[in-house]
Amino acid sequence: MTSALTPARLRLGVNIDHVATIRNARGGDHPDPVRAAEIVAAVGGDGITAHLREDRRHIRDEDIARIQAATNLPLNFEMAATDEMLAIALRHKPHAACIVPERREERTTEGGLDAAGLHNRLAPIVARLTDAGIRVSLFIAPEPRQIEAAMKLRAPVVELHTGEYAHAEGEARAHELQRLSDMAALAARNGIEPHAGHGLTYDNVQAVAAITQLAELNIGHYLIGEAIFVGLESAVRRMRELMDDARPAAAAG
Ligand code: PXP
Repeated sequence: MTSALTPARLRLGVNIDHVATIRNARGGDHPDPVRAAEIVAAVGGDGITAHLREDRRHIRDEDIARIQAATNLPLNFEMAATDEMLAIALRHKPHAACIVPERREERTTEGGLDAAGLHNRLAPIVARLTDAGIRVSLFIAPEPRQIEAAMKLRAPVVELHTGEYAHAEGEARAHELQRLSDMAALAARNGIEPHAGHGLTYDNVQAVAAITQLAELNIGHYLIGEAIFVGLESAVRRMRELMDDARPAAAAG
């Protein structure tokens, strides 16, 4: 039984974008991100995350329905705050939609969404997704003003960007970890479910997993990279073990 004193089990969402990246390098059908989703489901992953980028460099439009049909796992659909992506999300009705910033020239999602500065753009999108029964998440930097903006937007979930933490070293890393911990607590106190992700690896995941308010981690690039050497099943299992070790009470409960 989970109580206020026993942190809930931390969910692991696996981002399968980079299986699609490898497939797209040759333009064919292999490796298929749907097969990756099936393996994640078989090995006890809690969700599939995928980002339909404007330039379609990861998953393609037709992958969305295929991923949804292949497993019963909830799909966390990452999307830019555009009319095109809103229409696609409303058509497929994923379990969750995570709104992310997107710039064509970036290699990956480099920073958090400016939920504060983009309130007027985001408000109707959050409302339309929510009305359609899609759980909205905002991918934000761990900053109080962004949490406050998420509250104003009535987003039920925020995903805290862990990129700064992942890239920092020494004292700077401890500082970034504290920010993540404080913002997870601030979100939770205000009724927002905090998630986290970006740049997480076997080496840096445990300190984040130990933040008890966090309900979910979304991890992609490192897991797919490891999968090249040990297989996706082993990579997901290992990440799961590390997360459980960081939260022993919840893993047992
Ligand atoms: N969460 C969000 C919102 C993302 O956009 C990404 C990918 O950039 C991830 C998690 C996973 O990050 P990574 O691939 O570095 O594990």
